[in-house]
Amino acid sequence: MMEIVRIPTKAHAFIQEQKKAGKTIGLVPTMGALHQGHAYLIEKCKRENDFTVCSIYVNPAQFNNQKDFDTYPDLFEQDIAMVKALGCNAVFAPSHQAMYPEGAGENLLQFNFGKLASELEGRYRPGHFSGVGVVVAKLLNIIAPHKAYFGQKDLQQYLIIKKLCRDLSFQTEIVMCPTKREEDGLAMSSRNLRLTKTEREKAPLLYSVLSEAVLELKSGKKASQVKQKAFDEIAKEPMFKPEYVEVVSLESFEILSGQLTENAAICVSAHLGNARLIDNLLVQV
Ligand code: PAJ
Repeated sequence: MMEIVRIPTKAHAFIQEQKKAGKTIGLVPTMGALHQGHAYLIEKCKRENDFTVCSIYVNPAQFNNQKDFDTYPDLFEQDIAMVKALGCNAVFAPSHQAMYPEGAGENLLQFNFGKLASELEGRYRPGHFSGVGVVVAKLLNIIAPHKAYFGQKDLQQYLIIKKLCRDLSFQTEIVMCPTKREEDGLAMSSRNLRLTKTEREKAPLLYSVLSEAVLELKSGKKASQVKQKAFDEIAKEPMFKPEYVEVVSLESFEILSGQLTENAAICVSAHLGNARLIDNLLVQV
């Protein structure tokens, strides 16, 4: 039996009971419109915990673009069927009123993640990471899981959540899972649903450009040259509007420009039709 709980106090009490019964709790936070990337997180969570909770909540506080929020896919029934089939033990799906009784606007608590949030997604989506920080802190307080699972697809988000937990002494262990891809390399994403057939055919370009860039970085080419070339290759394809290609330190998330001497990631964001896509690959040196 999979419980669907909508009220935070009830969810908290229910999970506490499971803990008292000696179970370890794993949480997979999502915004729904679930795909195989999410399934991968849930499967890992199930393997590593006695009791798996999936949260489904489209968090208004993290959308810097109202249209993106308004058009975010809502596939709740389908999502429930999927998590049930995966063997999830409970779903937490709160209402906006329960999560933000005073609204999620300007009066909401703000987080400043400093250097970690100043570039890449932080630069192009002002306020986004503050909103992510607020909702994840709420979820960790409500569920209080032993472990919580996040995807490498949103690498900067993962690092921000690690910092949130360190700086606020949350006891949850944050686990990162590798990016799940379609057969042609496109990183799975709920936003891929917005692509037309032709856009979908072009979309794997991001992955192929990143893969090529990783080889160049490993062969000792300067990061500044590699990222410029990658950006130009995406921009050459008229359907794409690249926002950034950056090589960043995995430790500090600072932008790197020379030959790599530390582990790094190459990260990209580009508009394709009505979707804004992001992806990244790690570069181990
Ligand atoms: P959402 O975009 O639904 O993603 C939920 C989790 O799934 C995130 O940790 C994300 O990194 C991971 N994920 C998405 N696509 C993936 C893929 N192709 N492979 C592996 N993991 C993937 O990220 C969010 O929601 C929200 O910001 C949230 C953390 C739930 C806070 O609202």
